[in-house]
Amino acid sequence: MAAPMRELVLNEARALAVFANGRLVDHRFAVSLICDDLPDMRFNRAYVLDAANLTAESLEEMTRDFLTPQLPFRMDIFLPIPPETEALLNRKGFDLTEDYASEMLLTRASTLLRRNPAVKVEKLSERFLDSFSTIIVKAYNAPPDMVATLVSIFRHTIPRALEHKGASLYLAFLGSEPVGSLYLFSQGGVAGLYNLAVAQSSRRQGVATTLMLRAIDDAQAAGDRTLCLQTGVGSFHERFFERLGFTTVARRKRATRKSAKS
Ligand SMILES: CC(C)(COP(=O)(O)OP(=O)(O)OC[C@H]1O[C@@H](n2cnc3c(N)ncnc32)[C@H](O)[C@@H]1OP(=O)(O)O)[C@@H](O)C(=O)NCCC(=O)NCCS
Repeated sequence: MAAPMRELVLNEARALAVFANGRLVDHRFAVSLICDDLPDMRFNRAYVLDAANLTAESLEEMTRDFLTPQLPFRMDIFLPIPPETEALLNRKGFDLTEDYASEMLLTRASTLLRRNPAVKVEKLSERFLDSFSTIIVKAYNAPPDMVATLVSIFRHTIPRALEHKGASLYLAFLGSEPVGSLYLFSQGGVAGLYNLAVAQSSRRQGVATTLMLRAIDDAQAAGDRTLCLQTGVGSFHERFFERLGFTTVARRKRATRKSAKS
């Protein structure tokens, strides 16, 4: 059974908050994820569930979540976005980008993708913290001068995630080399898959497929009834996840503050 969109959004926001020592503010029509330590919009965003409810006042209310210490932030706004909301965002200094994300749910078993037996998947241990976060930070296109800072922030936040009951962090190896990451976050029967990343030099060898199939098996064995993920629209990603059994159930569009850099 499909979970309401709000449950999926709360899973993602909680997962990232656990990962990066952040916090949530629930505005009913929207949820803010604030990670003060992390100058990265992926970890500082407001999810707007109902764009028609966005008023000048509610926008102000949300913007206040990100005022200290002047974090850049973005909004992920679920479609449809009424023209009045677009006009409001524009007036209030937000750019509605052409960046769409797809909200996907596992709806069937994967028949098309196979594990690579040469890829070994292990639960992350403290010893490999830096390798794990370096793989993620680089794959998600952090500016090169920010890589070391972000990795050192994650060195402090990920140990908390390792202790969280609902969090499973996976590291994939080819031989003895750590090459891929995945984060499974389960709460209330909903499991979300985040931070899938493979080192550039190890791509197209089935590392991501092997990681995904392992985490799906683990989530199902633990009794999670809803498996979700979010991915960008317009490249191969959606198709990759469809072949793993996922179906798009909603789309969202990104808005950023005009002055902020991504
Ligand atoms: C997306 C990503 C995790 C894929 O990792 P990977 O280990 O290379 O993926 P796999 O080898 O398991 O690929 C399985 C299939 O996906 C498709 N695929 C993977 N990468 C592709 C690409 N760059 N272009 C087109 N198709 C691709 C192919 O069909 C591939 O099978 P094939 O190689 O037999 O044709 C990796 O490219 C990455 O880290 N990207 C940056 C971070 C990111 O986008 N993460 C996902 C966010 S939701």
